[in-house]
Amino acid sequence: MTKRGKLAVLGSINADHILNLAQFPRPGETVIGKQYQVAYGGKGANQAVAAGRAGADVTFVACIGSDDIGRQMREQFSRDGIDVTAIEEVEGEATGVALIYVNGDGENAIGIYAGANGALTPERVQKQRQTIADADALLMQLESPIESVQLAAEIAVKHGGKVILNPAPAAKLSDELLALIDIITPNETEAQILTGIEVSDDNGAARAAEALHSKGIATVIITLGSRGVWLSEQGEGKRIAGFKVDAVDTIAAGDTFNGALITALLESQPLDQAIIFAHAAAAIAVTRSGAQPSVPRREEIDRFLQQQG
Ligand code: RIB
Repeated sequence: MTKRGKLAVLGSINADHILNLAQFPRPGETVIGKQYQVAYGGKGANQAVAAGRAGADVTFVACIGSDDIGRQMREQFSRDGIDVTAIEEVEGEATGVALIYVNGDGENAIGIYAGANGALTPERVQKQRQTIADADALLMQLESPIESVQLAAEIAVKHGGKVILNPAPAAKLSDELLALIDIITPNETEAQILTGIEVSDDNGAARAAEALHSKGIATVIITLGSRGVWLSEQGEGKRIAGFKVDAVDTIAAGDTFNGALITALLESQPLDQAIIFAHAAAAIAVTRSGAQPSVPRREEIDRFLQQQG
């Protein structure tokens, strides 16, 4: 069996209400939907599930509300191989909610109610200090309070863990936080908001990556949608293409990429190979609808890679 390092994921849990329609409603307009579903989501949860299904040894630090959907999600995380002992139920709060429109081109527009995710305070992070300290890697996103992200990164660095940040949804970040990150995985918009540099081609990606290196981040992986990723390390940048598939919706494609990437790295796969593994997982996810329902298991990723030759 492959030796695996320990992973901690810190982040959000949302119940996604997904409405498929031909085009997004404009202000004042009502559009009749074609399909509606409630699915398990949240960037943190999607990434933890992607790691768990890909075979990682993962503990998830998060909050659910005191409601049935939160408890059902926590049970599902266990079935997905995730250690759920660091998921706290917050009395009097509702589990986070995301309202998602998906248009006929598979694009999405998302509005979020943080709910219990907003209760993942630095005090609650302190309670999970040991989990973070014991992990070889800590994976986070930006749907949790920023002071908690900062504190968790400090704990990980202090104990020799690697910090991986998927800076989504897009936000400007302090130099203090950026200096604690080992690997950052923004998409084009997020890279642009972080650096002020437009990322519309490889040249822009290379310049944005340089700006992030100058903040102390060793590895920059900018995801470029169907064009793959821009990987930049030690001043060397290159594009690594993804796989071409017929997309149904792209919800959680980035999350699946992140969870699978860190799983492969914790198995000591070389970075280029880990990126190909993560591309495969994300390619499978975009052929299915919803967030966690679309996340593949390890056997599916391995089979997909074999089929590509
Ligand atoms: O990245 C996709 C996720 O963003 C959805 O599952 C939704 O919950 C929002 O957090």
